[in-house]
Amino acid sequence: MAVAAQELELPGFEYLNPELKGERFHAELKALREQGWLASMPLGFVVLDREGGEFFLRSRSFTFPGLKIAEIFGIDDGPLAEEIRRNILHINGADHSRLRGLVNPAFTPRAVERWRPFMRETITALFEAARPGDDLVEALAKPYPSRVIATLMGAPVADADRLWTWSNLIQRQFGMTVAEERPQIERAVTEFSAYTEALMREKRAHPGDDLVSGLLDRAEDVELLHLVLNVLVGGVDTTQAQLAHALNLFAAHPDQWQRLGDDPDLAPQAVEEVVRFEPITPFTARIAMEDVVFRDVLFPKDTIVLVCAHSGNRDGVGDTFDITREPKRLLTFGAGPHYCLGVNLAKAELQQALAHLAPRMRGLELVAEPVYGTIDGIYGLDELRATWR
Ligand code: HEM
Repeated sequence: MAVAAQELELPGFEYLNPELKGERFHAELKALREQGWLASMPLGFVVLDREGGEFFLRSRSFTFPGLKIAEIFGIDDGPLAEEIRRNILHINGADHSRLRGLVNPAFTPRAVERWRPFMRETITALFEAARPGDDLVEALAKPYPSRVIATLMGAPVADADRLWTWSNLIQRQFGMTVAEERPQIERAVTEFSAYTEALMREKRAHPGDDLVSGLLDRAEDVELLHLVLNVLVGGVDTTQAQLAHALNLFAAHPDQWQRLGDDPDLAPQAVEEVVRFEPITPFTARIAMEDVVFRDVLFPKDTIVLVCAHSGNRDGVGDTFDITREPKRLLTFGAGPHYCLGVNLAKAELQQALAHLAPRMRGLELVAEPVYGTIDGIYGLDELRATWR
């Protein structure tokens, strides 16, 4: 007989505690994982192991709870409500497969290869302007992905800062502050939509070798617009946060940084280890659409489950940061039908950045405590001041 998750005596996890970050976050998750595969948290449950996590992400009985969040916060009409309904994370089944089929070809390993020269050029220019003592979030991590996404979309690089601002605001639809920030988020959706509609008109007249030109006339314009929006919102804060965490990790592991500096060909492995060790999506949320039993535990309809990539990625691997490690299956980019569309792009961006920086930022060292963001949503860094030789 299955026991309802709510009736189990489980260790508790303070998901919404703003103090839970950095080393303390690592230590608490380690202690939780030692107690078992499941923990409770204020909104539901946390699944801590890799296989369990994969089960919940692949199960058709669960969905991303974005529509539920919108319902709780009363977002039922206007541009944001429309955006939420059309967000690819909230679409399942045949419609989801059709939409993924339209964009997947632009994000295969081969397709992203052609953006590498632009990535190299961009990180080179950003690094040339950076000075020892600078905040590396502001100098490198923040401008880099929005310039790459702008170019990939077919937008001018000069618009990257505006795209960053819209992306950052629209991303906040998943946060607990969505109600207070709603007016700014609505405005960002409206402005981005007008911008992309104009870009689509321009590409129809003068097609180029870019995402927007390639998508034209392959579905309704409104669907294409939201696909482009999903690419922007999915591809900016994420890579920014992961690059910042990478530099933070390497500052804490100078031997590994030196090794990468001596042999930049290790960059692909280094990226695997960075995304394993400090995933910027430490949790991915799901909500049960019906009663589900897993490992003799009943998760009733409407139960919220967080899948923990941070602890799942450590299963059978251990807790040290080692860039020469054999890559393992990870939860960082999700699993199942909604597996990250931009995984190859993100990895290529991180590889290009680390391969360029490691030989040139010898002796990377923090000059102030890193300022961490919160672990809900995208776990990033707000500031990372460092010096190098
Ligand atoms: C280190 C960087 C990144 C990480 C860690 C990451 C992580 C994730 C995760 C965990 C999911 C699955 C969410 C879920 O199932 O609940 C996801 C989905 C997605 N990601 Fe990424 N992502 C990254 C970069 C990117 C980039 C560069 C793009 C740009 C194309 C992107 C676009 C998307 C999209 C559109 C989805 C939704 C896919 C769908 O619903 O079918 N991501 N990402």
